[in-house]
Amino acid sequence: MEDIAEPSHVELLRRQLRGPWHNMLLDKWVGRGELDYEKYVRTPELLALQTPPEQRVSPDELMFQAVHQSQELWLKLLAHECVETVGELDQDQLWEASARLERVNRMARTLTSQLGVLETLTPETYQIIRRSLGSGSGQESPGYNAVGLAAQGLEEALTRLLWRRGVEPAVLYSRPGLADLKRLCEQLLDYDESYQLWLYTHYQLVRRTIGVDASVKALDGIPTRVLPGRMMKPLFPVLWAVRVEMTAHWRREGGHAPGESRAPAKGEAS
Ligand code: HEM
Repeated sequence: MEDIAEPSHVELLRRQLRGPWHNMLLDKWVGRGELDYEKYVRTPELLALQTPPEQRVSPDELMFQAVHQSQELWLKLLAHECVETVGELDQDQLWEASARLERVNRMARTLTSQLGVLETLTPETYQIIRRSLGSGSGQESPGYNAVGLAAQGLEEALTRLLWRRGVEPAVLYSRPGLADLKRLCEQLLDYDESYQLWLYTHYQLVRRTIGVDASVKALDGIPTRVLPGRMMKPLFPVLWAVRVEMTAHWRREGGHAPGESRAPAKGEAS
């Protein structure tokens, strides 16, 4: 009799994961795209966007693709939220704008932590996946381009808001009564910092996978060495320039010598 090998445990599990699955609590079949959740989230389309197992060049390709796809979704959302913030700033709805910037900041931090997952990709596996990427470039990312454009709009909206209030950016940190505007600017700066941190994390990812050196070129021929210069470019230069301006006007007078007693001298009112 012919000896037919039993499928391994892992093979059986892989087959099961293709679905559909009977959910005992619901007594319904999940994975056929017939349920309201699946219809609203459009899971049939969404989950068909990744290369199927039998066509993957490496088991890690699913992770590589899923992280890239999720990054695009988060970038899309980030750009959308920034555009909404522009509308709120133009309507002088500062509380709403501030609440939304909190959301924007959480999203920017999420982008960075997601890249951490991709950092587990080891260089030899990336060398394999890389063969199927054509001559694609990060500059071709729709989300990256949208976020850059939305940030420009945000900076212009801030300029309009400050102009309506008759305030120069540097004055925010010296004149009393401008706490709402100051808070908003600090939130924008938080966003800018988080965004640059995302690009810095991406730089380390590139360094870990293909290396950064004059000899290392991206698939589109761009040397990886260009990345550090680009990742340091802020979204809102005006807010960083304020710090430089303040430091230029800083004077040492009025402080205490290190180690000097700060207790009031005898007879001096406290
Ligand atoms: C192993 C994973 C990755 C590698 C090896 C990699 C590699 C590179 C390289 C070499 C560049 C510079 C040349 C160019 O513009 O194409 C670049 C740029 C870029 N990548 Fe990636 N990347 C990876 C993952 C990602 C992910 C997940 C994103 C998320 C959207 C991303 C977004 C970008 C963007 C926006 C740029 C342009 C940055 C700039 O020009 O300052 N990359 N990437």
